[in-house]
Amino acid sequence: MAKKTVAGNWKMHGSASWVAQHIEALLEADLPVDAIDVIVAPTYVHLPSVLDRVGGNALKVAAQDARAEADGAFTGDVSAAMLADIGVTDVILGHSERRHGLGESNALVGEKVAATLAAGLRPIICVGETQAEREVGNASEVVLAQLEAAVAGIEAEAINGCLVAYEPVWAIGTGLTASPEQAQEMHQVLRERLRDWVGDNAASVPLLYGGSVKGENAAGLFAKADIDGALVGGASLKVDEFAAICRAAADA
Ligand code: PGA
Repeated sequence: MAKKTVAGNWKMHGSASWVAQHIEALLEADLPVDAIDVIVAPTYVHLPSVLDRVGGNALKVAAQDARAEADGAFTGDVSAAMLADIGVTDVILGHSERRHGLGESNALVGEKVAATLAAGLRPIICVGETQAEREVGNASEVVLAQLEAAVAGIEAEAINGCLVAYEPVWAIGTGLTASPEQAQEMHQVLRERLRDWVGDNAASVPLLYGGSVKGENAAGLFAKADIDGALVGGASLKVDEFAAICRAAADA
């Protein structure tokens, strides 16, 4: 079984003082870091202060994106190698806000996944269909194409160093959570595809659900066989909500 994981994607939120106070509150919240993996993903500018504060604590720190090239003339970008160098452990890749907002292609996400693994970090590969794609019955096709392109450049065994987050675009930041059944259905599709590649090892790849996860709906999602945790946006900005989601994961 995959280890339960709860990752907080802080997106482009927070001032230096808010971040300092938020990380302090999370460290004091007695999160169940022995039972599950807990990850926080601040902006690039806030990574150093969060890493400093987290120190030897079991809390993991992720970036929200990484450029595939290790260095070079890429104004404004940050490489996976640079993130590894400062102590980041995980990188969110292919988030729908980058795929749809910034035009990131499936192929580009694949390059980033390979570079992130090569830098020794764990990619959190985001996949998910839009409302329109779901309505015409293409949800599984879209999500599997995203997954396949994301892992196209890596050895099959390397999938065991990745997490996959199913985040239906229609559920992100909208308050419209996928029902546990809808989420489980897609997680099962993803797990089966992983099983085709790596056999029984597929069971240990954490499959996270993301899209309006809160304290009140987390337990229902985590009760499903193939939902190994959550990628949390809005609710990760509230200590009580985030702690409740972490506890639900630890109790599942
Ligand atoms: P949300 O965001 O929890 O605010 O819906 C999830 C995400 O985008 O990762």
